[in-house]
Amino acid sequence: MEKSAEDIFEGFKEHSIAEFFKRNKQMLGYSGKVHSMVTVVHEYVSNSMDACEDAGILPFISVRIKQLGDERYSISVDDNGPGVPKKFVGKALGTILTGTKFHVYRQQRGQQGIGAAGCTLFAQITTGKPIHVVSSTGENAYGCDISIDIGKNKPVVNNILPAERKSKGLSVQGEFEGIKYENSEKSVFEYLRRTALANPHVEIMFYAPDGKEYTFTRSVETIPSPSKAIKPHPLGISVNDLLDFARVSSSRKTSVFLSETFARMSSAKVQEITGIVGESITDKAPKDLDWASAESLIKAFKSVKWIAPDATAISSIGEERVKAAIDNILTPEYVYIVERKPQVLHGGIPFIVEAAIAYGGNSGRKSSEDEYTWNIMRFANRVPLLFDAGSCAITEAVKGIQWKRYGIDIDNRPVSIFVNVSSVYIPYSGVGKEAISKEEELVEEIRLALMDTARGLQKYIGGKQKVSAAKTRYRTLMNYAGQLSSDLSYLTKADKKEIERSLERLILKHYPKAKESDAELEEEKGA
Ligand SMILES: Nc1ncnc2c1ncn2[C@@H]1O[C@H](COP(=O)(O)OP(=O)(O)OP(=O)(O)O)[C@@H](O)[C@H]1O
Ligand SMILES: [Mg+2]
Repeated sequence: MEKSAEDIFEGFKEHSIAEFFKRNKQMLGYSGKVHSMVTVVHEYVSNSMDACEDAGILPFISVRIKQLGDERYSISVDDNGPGVPKKFVGKALGTILTGTKFHVYRQQRGQQGIGAAGCTLFAQITTGKPIHVVSSTGENAYGCDISIDIGKNKPVVNNILPAERKSKGLSVQGEFEGIKYENSEKSVFEYLRRTALANPHVEIMFYAPDGKEYTFTRSVETIPSPSKAIKPHPLGISVNDLLDFARVSSSRKTSVFLSETFARMSSAKVQEITGIVGESITDKAPKDLDWASAESLIKAFKSVKWIAPDATAISSIGEERVKAAIDNILTPEYVYIVERKPQVLHGGIPFIVEAAIAYGGNSGRKSSEDEYTWNIMRFANRVPLLFDAGSCAITEAVKGIQWKRYGIDIDNRPVSIFVNVSSVYIPYSGVGKEAISKEEELVEEIRLALMDTARGLQKYIGGKQKVSAAKTRYRTLMNYAGQLSSDLSYLTKADKKEIERSLERLILKHYPKAKESDAELEEEKGA
């Protein structure tokens, strides 16, 4: 029997955003058991680092994972940050799309207000249990249990009680099912190791479920200078972004909204834009802007000339800090670091690429008992990206380099390639923020940085090979020289030592590199 539209629409419902993510949890990084565990750790650890840096505190973070069942674990993360005031804790950790980082155009790890509440939702839908929080903002510490009213996307906070906690900070603990701890390139251990690499000011303790304890010690004692909030450049935003900004604007007219919201938007520019789109749009209240008007505005932005965006709000890790962290964690034989100048994506989004190549020590990855191969360490705003490598601009750029041309047999060498992209707005390829989208300008800029690192390593390996070949010849000839000087001394009655010294001088004339001291090699390493 045919159904009427009325029958069908009887079941018409509105879903909350929490309901949406409950059904599409893979969009938040909850796909696969190992991946899901890394996602939880990533969300909590990134929040802790953001909060500490915001408050000007050197982060000390501890991560504890306990196995409770076959695929059931307890994960807790504790930090020494500013803590969360009691009255905000429900919203912060129990409502999707809430946070302090919204509508702030600033380089931070978190942006969307989804991460922590996403973990609460994931705990709830896999074990039915709330997460447990203990926090102190300096006064009395409190503890509570938080879950989400999924239908309404509202927090449910229970058991609010005074708690024992001596210092400021936040500790979150949740129980999760359907996740797995594994010792691989995509493990929590590797995630934390890479976090420490890109954040040399962070100290991390990790208590693994197998009873092992790891400490990633801090390699620098200063916090990166706090990132500045800037206004977005008109060429760096989409129609959707423009409408998002318009929705939260309190300006009466779009013309005022434009000059208040965007960088480089002088009154002359507003006039120029009004000349293109007409006053019917720029006189409107920004809240009344519809898609078509926003689209005309974006089109107009693209048709006028702009001063380039300000890149001073972007903070890269910095050459010295990258070196300190790599030396501390990978203890390589050689490292070469490149920091490129700021570049601009789409004419409106400034970004900086840093790349490093590390050779020897703990660099690369073991491919068999005593053989090593290379690995890529991808970062966006200092956050390690472990998954979805195939969709990432960094992988694309690495693939674009002909390493053999630089004399680097990358498949059989202990090489780690480190790339960090910093920007106020990283163009991720998905909501899960696992990969940077393959925009041509980005891939090219990363490729240029990598070519520089490849040249650095080429010089080092080339030098090393030359020295070792010369050393082998020198040693062989010196063996003969020993015998020869005895024989010559017997025949001529001249002093054996004197003959041997003359022969050595002769050999060194041909192979001067053989006696090059290791100090010289060291010098090349640091170049
Ligand atoms: N460890 C913490 N210390 C202090 N405040 C925190 C901490 N963790 C979370 N918060 C607060 O809770 C808010 C929500 O966190 P959540 O991870 O959900 O979103 P976000 O970090 O703003 O963005 P994203 O979804 O990109 O991670 C944060 O904006 C911050 O205000
Ligand atoms: Mg977050």
